[in-house]
Amino acid sequence: MITWDPDTHNVGVREIDDQHQRLAEIINRIEQALSAGENMESVEALLDLLLQYAEFHFFTEEHYMRQHAYQGEASHREGHHHLVDQLLSLRQDLVKQDKADARHTIDFLGSWFLDHILHMDRPMGIWLRARGVK
Ligand SMILES: [Fe+2]
Ligand SMILES: [Fe+2]
Repeated sequence: MITWDPDTHNVGVREIDDQHQRLAEIINRIEQALSAGENMESVEALLDLLLQYAEFHFFTEEHYMRQHAYQGEASHREGHHHLVDQLLSLRQDLVKQDKADARHTIDFLGSWFLDHILHMDRPMGIWLRARGVK
């Protein structure tokens, strides 16, 4: 489960922080569904929701980066593409896997999400806040 710690995870831009918390909620919800033994169809539906919301979120960040000529835009965009690719292949794996493997997959998903926030989103947040975005 992802425990949101504002001091560690907040980027300092309200819209982005709200979206990150929503993403964390969806990831936690998927984990709960797996622990509760909900059927794979509802897990798949949640994963589709995660994928959709992640794409919407990446679009938001990319818009901010372009608007404020962020120096790290190209590599950050690549990071997003990579995450979408991973999500798509995880979705396929999840359908075939048993519940234990699926939970492992979701753990992995949670850690790359936090890793991306720490190493890519927070530096972007510093850049945006220096340009008056809140
Ligand atoms: Fe990002
Ligand atoms: Fe993000």
